[in-house]
Amino acid sequence: MQVNVFDTPQAAAKSLAAEVAELIRSRAAQGRPAVLGLATGATPLPFYAELIRMHREEGLSFAHVVTFNLDEYCGLPREHRESYWYFMHHNLFDHIDIKPENVNLPSGTLNADEIPAHCAAYEQKIKDHGCIDIQILGIGRTGHIGFNEPGSDDTTITRQVHLDDLTRSDAAPAFGGKDNVPASAITMGVATIMGARRVALMAWGAKKAPIVKKAVEGPVTADVAASYLQKHPNAAFYLDKAAAAELA
Ligand code: PGA
Repeated sequence: MQVNVFDTPQAAAKSLAAEVAELIRSRAAQGRPAVLGLATGATPLPFYAELIRMHREEGLSFAHVVTFNLDEYCGLPREHRESYWYFMHHNLFDHIDIKPENVNLPSGTLNADEIPAHCAAYEQKIKDHGCIDIQILGIGRTGHIGFNEPGSDDTTITRQVHLDDLTRSDAAPAFGGKDNVPASAITMGVATIMGARRVALMAWGAKKAPIVKKAVEGPVTADVAASYLQKHPNAAFYLDKAAAAELA
């Protein structure tokens, strides 16, 4: 696994955004779409800011880009401030020239009996595009990628999952208390993520250092979903110095 350490999150995000821009441009030159797997959370914000800057200042066009987001909370409508639909539009899609029909996120407003078919269709739609060219990831303190909490092994695909207690605690401030954090979500599985041609995981700050160490240097285990990336042929971690501080 490639581990890239930068002085700041901005420097790391700029490097990753340059790589993604090159992919988008080379695909556009071939008349083919680039398929991006996208993530939410505080971590990718400098990466999205850099993509927006490149769109505005350098003419980077997303007209031929297709996106699949990792996950969405169950029970949140699109317009909810904490929905990942809202996050992605507010922080990226509303500021670039992506076509609305090329944006894919799991739905947060399905009845329980509709969820399995929705998840199967999401998985199939990714396959219909060949595969995800580059999957962007953050990492939770449980080791989750997407919402693949401890216990998620590398056979898991898109499905509904219960959120770990630590994950709900970390989300509590945004929701005005843990009781308001949804209990479940729909997420791509570990196998879905492993199917991407390239995987890029970003992590910033000392709070992430212990889980980054486990993911990069610990055993490959369902206890830490991100550890499966050790087995991916083309995975890279983009870290600032604080997140990399515990690595050997
Ligand atoms: P964060 O979340 O980017 O807000 O730290 C990461 C994650 O839970 O995957």
